[in-house]
Amino acid sequence: MNKVLLINYKAYKESFTKGVEIAKAAAEVSNGTGVDVIVAPPSTVLNQIKGIVKTIAQGVDEVDPGAFTAHITWFELKYNGIAGTLLNHSEKRYSFSKGGEIDYDRLKQAIDKCKLAGLETYVCVENLEEAKKIAAMEPTAVAYEPPELIGGNVSVTSAHPDIVKEFSNLIRENSDSLPLIGAGVKKAEDAKKSIELGAEGVLVASGIVLANDFKAEIYNLASAMVN
Ligand code: G3P
Repeated sequence: MNKVLLINYKAYKESFTKGVEIAKAAAEVSNGTGVDVIVAPPSTVLNQIKGIVKTIAQGVDEVDPGAFTAHITWFELKYNGIAGTLLNHSEKRYSFSKGGEIDYDRLKQAIDKCKLAGLETYVCVENLEEAKKIAAMEPTAVAYEPPELIGGNVSVTSAHPDIVKEFSNLIRENSDSLPLIGAGVKKAEDAKKSIELGAEGVLVASGIVLANDFKAEIYNLASAMVN
């Protein structure tokens, strides 16, 4: 199974101004290293990028196509040839209030509808309790991202190596989902450590999207996971 480097573009300005170039660099590195480099651009950029490298949305709503303003449906992704979606990122939780409990029913509906449509699902969690509940839903991948480390320079692999290890074991023992980790991953050694601790890959945003030489950053992170 190939290791995964998932680049979350978020809503950074660079996602729009450099999004296509980042995708081209991702494709080159993916071909050169054998790592599955996947990009998650904002919705208006998805169609520009989908032919360049494996592309997923940053989120999807659980509703079916119909009278739902400002929703993204599984049908929209499928119809446009998008490979799948992130779900429940800590910046867009499946919860009705900020910091509130996940609405597991709605989240499961979204995962199940994507699965039926053949879409991949990369579901973020903030702790082991959420990880266990979501592993039971068998998404493509479960991604552990402690919110306090997101966007910073301290990697989850150095702040919480024990949790990363426990998380990876928990996902492997309870599901067929891939264990991924993210938050503060910027250096090659962070990516390497994630694999040593049992993860199958990493999610990265600021370390790549905000970098001047984003191709070098993508290459450094991807190659560190396979060497
Ligand atoms: O989804 C990945 C993201 O939340 C991590 O962000 O900037 O810490 O790499 P960053």
